[in-house]
Amino acid sequence: MMKTTRLASMFKCALLLSSFLLTAPLAYAIRPVSQETIDIETYKNAALAPEVRAKALLGLMTMDEKFTMVFGQYATVAAWKNFKPDPKVLPYSAGYVPAIERLGIPAQFQTDAGIGVATQGGAPKPRERTALPSGMLTASTFDRDIAFKGGAMIGREAYLSGFNILLAGGVNLVREPRNGRNFEYGGEDPLLAGIMVGEQIRGIQSNPIISTLKHFAYNNQETNRFGVNVVVDEKSGRMSELLAFQIANEIGKPWSVMCAYNRVNGAYACENNYLLNEVLKGDFGFKGYVMSDWGATHSTIPAANFGLDQQSGWPFDKSAYFSDALKEAVESNHVPKARLDNMVLRILTAMFAQKLFDQPVSGDQAEKIPVEAHEAVTQADAEAGIILLKNERNLLPLSSKAKTILIIGGRADQGVLSGGGSSQVYPRGGQVVHDEAPKAWPGPVVYFPDSPMKALQARTKAKISYLDGKDLGLVKDQAKKADLVIVFATQWLGESIDAEGLDLPNKQNQLIDEAASANPNTVVVLQTGGPVFMPWLPKVGAVLEAWYPGTRGGTAIALILTGEVNPSGHLPVTFPKSLDQLPRLKIDGGTDKAFEGSNIGYRWYEAKGHQPLFAFGHGLSYATFKLGELKIASPDPKAITVTARIHNSSKRSGAEVAQIYVSHDSFDSPKRLAGFTKAYVEAGESKTVTVSLDPRLLASYDVSAKKWIIAKGSYKIHLAASSAEISQTVTIELPETVLGYK
Ligand code: BGC
Repeated sequence: MMKTTRLASMFKCALLLSSFLLTAPLAYAIRPVSQETIDIETYKNAALAPEVRAKALLGLMTMDEKFTMVFGQYATVAAWKNFKPDPKVLPYSAGYVPAIERLGIPAQFQTDAGIGVATQGGAPKPRERTALPSGMLTASTFDRDIAFKGGAMIGREAYLSGFNILLAGGVNLVREPRNGRNFEYGGEDPLLAGIMVGEQIRGIQSNPIISTLKHFAYNNQETNRFGVNVVVDEKSGRMSELLAFQIANEIGKPWSVMCAYNRVNGAYACENNYLLNEVLKGDFGFKGYVMSDWGATHSTIPAANFGLDQQSGWPFDKSAYFSDALKEAVESNHVPKARLDNMVLRILTAMFAQKLFDQPVSGDQAEKIPVEAHEAVTQADAEAGIILLKNERNLLPLSSKAKTILIIGGRADQGVLSGGGSSQVYPRGGQVVHDEAPKAWPGPVVYFPDSPMKALQARTKAKISYLDGKDLGLVKDQAKKADLVIVFATQWLGESIDAEGLDLPNKQNQLIDEAASANPNTVVVLQTGGPVFMPWLPKVGAVLEAWYPGTRGGTAIALILTGEVNPSGHLPVTFPKSLDQLPRLKIDGGTDKAFEGSNIGYRWYEAKGHQPLFAFGHGLSYATFKLGELKIASPDPKAITVTARIHNSSKRSGAEVAQIYVSHDSFDSPKRLAGFTKAYVEAGESKTVTVSLDPRLLASYDVSAKKWIIAKGSYKIHLAASSAEISQTVTIELPETVLGYK
């Protein structure tokens, strides 16, 4: 007995000794280390993965700290609904979530939007920043690199302005050409919009900035945007609006998505389980966080459980749903604690991934903005996206024969127009036009002080005079005497309002008609939010669509008019001929049934046999291009690539877009854009381009299988200069193919 006990204790000693010897080299490590210390070291370690750091930090947070993270406030300076803004907000910006200083969690400073650093209305001294052209114009460039560079530029300005979240990335499709916010988005086609907005987001997030992707989803009109119910079947949605979001998400990898104001199939977008949990976080694999649009949260329990991670902009909403009410809901387990943790984890992961901890903002350092370099970025964007829609008798570029030029209207003597609402960027040097309504939100109407007329005066020897266009008698009289007339026509649009129709406002159609009747050498330069009608089109010689061309838009317009820059923009949206060509004659504010299915834009007009005014993809050049030699380079249905040759048969170098459309019997519309590329081709030269097709554009979304499937059969691949100008078609036989996309 004695022996056994001794033996046993000897054995124990040996065990202890050996385990000590084994662990001795790690002597440091066996000093008792608390979980807290490990978590602190983990979240502070910039070499670790964002998710790992976020998880560690989450473990250190109190419940109150977690609630702080999911509740954003409006960065106003005025008291509103008994809400006193935090003194640390960056005033007149969009939003703010306070820091948690105990843990070194930085505050979230949010600003709008897609064309640059905006200032909310009413600011005594707005931030004066570089503005990109409108999203519609950037989409018109069909140039991914331009979109990326523009994003990188505005992201940099946001960072240097003290913001770490830029509420950019609007990708709602132009289902409704009268939508007042079309100018913020990327046009009507899911592939083009998804790619261009995705690239912009990628550019923004090349800075220590989180970008949003918005407004998820179907915020395609402003009429009753807080209540409209968009009724859309799953297949159509996945193949149109949601496809645009999917592509933008893949390319841009935004760390935040903003859910929209409207309802979708009955449920508000910010408490829509299908949209947020199933599609976005499920199928798209989105790992970032969902923030609500300002005033788009409508509940606590459904919103939290159905996928909203952060309520934004309090007190825009009726109630502080994600404040005390969420605490109560978590305490009573109506919202599981694990769900709250997931909300916070997503926000923290985004903040780590975008280096908000490691490269924190340090207030407004606007003086560090490299103004000239940034203005060059926006100018390059405008130059590449302004579209030459019509050019008869080679009226453009301006010839030296035009010794006297009459410029009419559009404030061309002072600046270029921008769109209104939360995305409004204010120009350096202040506003130049003060007498246009509306003055209150979504106004004021802001012109950037880069006058196209002055830019033209600096570049031509012609004698240039100006009329504001109010006196039609004078217009007629002066137009007759000039060698050339340029009418600048504008359509101001803004957030929260839709255009009543597609006619230019303020009798500008009449003005253009008078000028063109008096002088056939009339050029029209349009600055519009979206498509407009042109009843005067047969009478005028040339038309440029300059959208809202941004800070250096006047210079860009002048360079195109003189021919120093060869236009290369193409329409990202169809210009219809009449309202009865649209899916709906009137914008419905109640239930908006998307009865066009996935046939948005050119797909709708083509399916219905409507001849538009200008087709999607249309855009002229001062050079002459010929597209040909279309060949299938890779027939793999999952990754079809084609090659084509762009020949420039003119004496001017310039850029052309090779557009690849696909057709199949099973499609609801004659064709779909499946790929594109823009190439610069020297005068008299040719270039071979390679275009990869997104296989989803050849496929259909199968709702029951939850898969994208290419049907077996014969597909037509078209090489085209626009959706209406096909230069060559080849056929390819494809086997049934299930794609890897969800
Ligand atoms: C707009 C959003 C914007 C937000 C914050 C809302 O009215 O719909 O696009 O980001 O305000 O200003």
